[in-house]
Amino acid sequence: MIFNTETGTDILLAKHYLDKEDIVAIPTETVYGLAANIFSEPAIKKVYSAKKRPATNPLIIHIANKEWIYELAEDVNEQAKLLIDNFMPGPLTILLPKKKLIPDMVTSGLPNVAIRLPAHPIANNLLKQLDYPLAAPSANPFGYISPTTAQHVYDQMGGKIPYILDGGKCKAGIESTIIGFKEHETVVYRLGSITIAELEAVVGKVILNSNTKDIVAPGMLKKHYSPRTPLLLTQNIEDALTQYTGKKIGLLTYDSYSQLLPYEHQIILGETKNMSLIAHNLYSAMHIMDAAGYDIIIVKRLPDEGIGRSINDRLNRASSL
Ligand code: TXA
Ligand code: MG
Repeated sequence: MIFNTETGTDILLAKHYLDKEDIVAIPTETVYGLAANIFSEPAIKKVYSAKKRPATNPLIIHIANKEWIYELAEDVNEQAKLLIDNFMPGPLTILLPKKKLIPDMVTSGLPNVAIRLPAHPIANNLLKQLDYPLAAPSANPFGYISPTTAQHVYDQMGGKIPYILDGGKCKAGIESTIIGFKEHETVVYRLGSITIAELEAVVGKVILNSNTKDIVAPGMLKKHYSPRTPLLLTQNIEDALTQYTGKKIGLLTYDSYSQLLPYEHQIILGETKNMSLIAHNLYSAMHIMDAAGYDIIIVKRLPDEGIGRSINDRLNRASSL
């Protein structure tokens, strides 16, 4: 089916499409999601097919209030309760044992369900008007850069969905932090908007899944979040610029322009002392650079601290060949 995709701020129109088992792009504080009623198998199928996403890669469930967690999850442990109290609503996704009422298609047959209570007024308003939660992966084709504006969604999903609910540019700009539990330990499965230090201030030491061998979050592929243009992540911009002399280079940098490349081929993402702003601008800048027809996009690696570590994680995957 081909749609004449509309963009607007009409929450009731978004509800209308969702109620009739269509899919709609919604804003969240992290990135835009491609949303479907979790109880509608036809709608869930449309999400997988619009994204060209493998059926083995499950979807995060977005809820209107914390009560839903107890409807959807079998067992909410004490650490989970602490994290829920401290970070929801917000950019935290929690993996908990699923109840049977959730269709297996949503969790790709896995024993856990991923749940998140977003902090975006338009998403919250919409969710409160629905009788069901929304399954929503990021609203990009599988493997590509996530969208942080309604226009990004339109560029990638135009014609495939009836409606894009416009909530402006996403504040956080990178995806939620995904956590789960192993025995009595809290495990971070995806670095994201909430930092390790913020989590540890609430639950004590957490473990990074990259240090364990199990693949619990199947979407955490080595190559992901990628522009079509090759991307090089490097500490040494000067060397990289020299290495690619003669090529059309786009540069993503921080604090100030490099003197070695014309300014019009550079984007300053923000100051390194304000990494949240860098995260906010990251995907937009990657979208602009990818559309500009460069041979290579060079990006400067950030210090591996706080949100910088999450940004480096995304850039590492984006640069993976
Ligand atoms: O910020 C976000 O989390 C955004 C917004 C739209 O909420 N969503 C998002 O969804 O990033 P997505 O589908 O692009 O990434 C979700 C990740 C995938 O790696 C997926 O494999 C993992 O979460 N995941 C989802 N459900 C899971 C489950 N039941 N068990 C393990 N991993 C799960
Ligand atoms: Mg995604």
